[in-house]
Amino acid sequence: MKEVSSDFVREEFIEFFKSKKHSQIQPASLIPENDPTVLFTTAGMHPLVPFLLGEKHPQGKRLCNFQKCIRTQDIEEVGDAWHLTFFEMLGNWSIGDYFKKEAIEFSFKFLTGKKKGLGLPVEMLAVTCFIGDKDCPKDNEAAKVWKKLGIPAHKIAFLPKAQNWWGPAGLTGPCGPDSEMFYYVGKEKPLKKSNPGTDEKDWCEIWNDVFMQYNKTNEGKFEELRQKNVDTGMGLERTTAVLNGFSSAFETDLLKPIFDQAASLTKLQPEIPEVQKSLRIITDHLRAATFILGDEKGISPSNVDQGYVLRRLIRRAIRHARLIGIEENFTVRVAQKVVERFKGIYPELDKNHQRIFEELDREETRFKQTLEKGIHLAEKEFSALQKGETVPAKIVFDLYQSFGFPLEMTEELAREKRLEIDVKGFESLLLEHQELSRKGAEQKFKGGLSDHSESTTALHTATHLLNEALRRIVDQNIFQKGSNITAERLRFDFPLDRKLTAEEIKKVEDLVNQKISEGLTVEIEVMGVEKAKAAGAQGVFDAKYSDSVKVYTVLNSETQEVFSREICGGPHVKSLKELGKFRILKEESSAAGIRRIKAVLEK
Ligand code: GLY
Repeated sequence: MKEVSSDFVREEFIEFFKSKKHSQIQPASLIPENDPTVLFTTAGMHPLVPFLLGEKHPQGKRLCNFQKCIRTQDIEEVGDAWHLTFFEMLGNWSIGDYFKKEAIEFSFKFLTGKKKGLGLPVEMLAVTCFIGDKDCPKDNEAAKVWKKLGIPAHKIAFLPKAQNWWGPAGLTGPCGPDSEMFYYVGKEKPLKKSNPGTDEKDWCEIWNDVFMQYNKTNEGKFEELRQKNVDTGMGLERTTAVLNGFSSAFETDLLKPIFDQAASLTKLQPEIPEVQKSLRIITDHLRAATFILGDEKGISPSNVDQGYVLRRLIRRAIRHARLIGIEENFTVRVAQKVVERFKGIYPELDKNHQRIFEELDREETRFKQTLEKGIHLAEKEFSALQKGETVPAKIVFDLYQSFGFPLEMTEELAREKRLEIDVKGFESLLLEHQELSRKGAEQKFKGGLSDHSESTTALHTATHLLNEALRRIVDQNIFQKGSNITAERLRFDFPLDRKLTAEEIKKVEDLVNQKISEGLTVEIEVMGVEKAKAAGAQGVFDAKYSDSVKVYTVLNSETQEVFSREICGGPHVKSLKELGKFRILKEESSAAGIRRIKAVLEK
């Protein structure tokens, strides 16, 4: 079968919507114009905010375009088959014109249409709709339209805000329930499972129709908008991939030439899983960096805002290059491929190519010097330790913080010297640091980011409850092996050599929710490591790192009955009453013998 190009998908999309009376609008800069609360354009709707709120658009009520976007919230996931920090979004909009029925019909026709459209088989599609909450009712209307078009009821999942709500792009503005379209990418054929939206391995999200009928206010309220809008976003990389039956976005003509260029610089086989992961990270991050540097706004690597994200992307790419044995300066060679591949569609890359290459090379040279100094320090510290000893968390953190050493690099260096690393201690220090810098950011934006901080604090407390519930219901030996919290969800890794049963998951959820409804309180006490150990606290630090630690206890303040006690950097909520409803989204394997749970708190 002949490969379908991404250019075909992009053009076909625009042509389809033009034939449905949409005007094509120009793609915007990667740096949003009038919204200081977001660093990058994360969707095609950013420049349209005033029009979604009621202003008249000069090109009419039906619009479409393709838009370069950056999203960094899933940066840790990049390296798998589908996650990207830079991607192109295809979008169509109704600015107070058509609504749900037409939007869904357009989407369905474009996805499945044989003449004008992509001709994807209906049986490989599944969709999700909003389940409803205090802000907005269940979206039976959208589900009804999908059913009428031929999507069977068992392939329509209803999910809460964490999945089926989009916006606002910044902190306030237009938003609403959405309906997302997924393509089956699982191995089992014929497909048995239909749980789109919660099973990322088998279902790849390709398109999202947002029904923008609310405005989120400064106070966090959802007000009905005067006009009802539609905002959609289709991922070009993912759609091109599934259309060709590829099992990752990196096989598409949008990423493969860049991946191949990076692969030509290492002697290792790109098929080896760790090598492939590093090559994907290099490909994605340097493509993103090239677009940021090539944008008309002229961003350079720095320690603040967009410049900081840019620096992180470049440095992470360099670290991964080092992991796979690329020692020479290489970023320009990869960026040259990006410019060559995309200058036809994004002429700014060609116009600014000089600047892109100079900035990259300068940053690469600068980072390598820092790396040299860091390696020097690491060697000095490591030489004081005996084989088999543990490198204290403080040193691992210093290397990370002052020299930009990621954990995996310090681990690699330690392994060479047959030393262990205090990973848990490092993660606690990191969490503490992130919370401190988040507090700084909050002050800067005055309340702007406090929502974010509140929800991460709540999820952090929920992580402790989850840990304890797993220990009580599944296995007393469970402990926190890793944790990652965003404003939307928690992620918790723990050792166990089997999958949890559905019944266990339900019991764990129920126990956490029971403790929340009992309104237990969280108390903090600073004490010595030995005393904390004696008090039965979980997560004991390396005694060398610090003599006194913070111990958080979740307990019934009347009976003093303790539910959980952990050593941790904080912060936590004061009362579990503030948490809302705890729900496990996923339980999966993360590495050999390690399980991973993703969970949310619903208000
Ligand atoms: N703005 C719609 C989306 O990003 O999915």
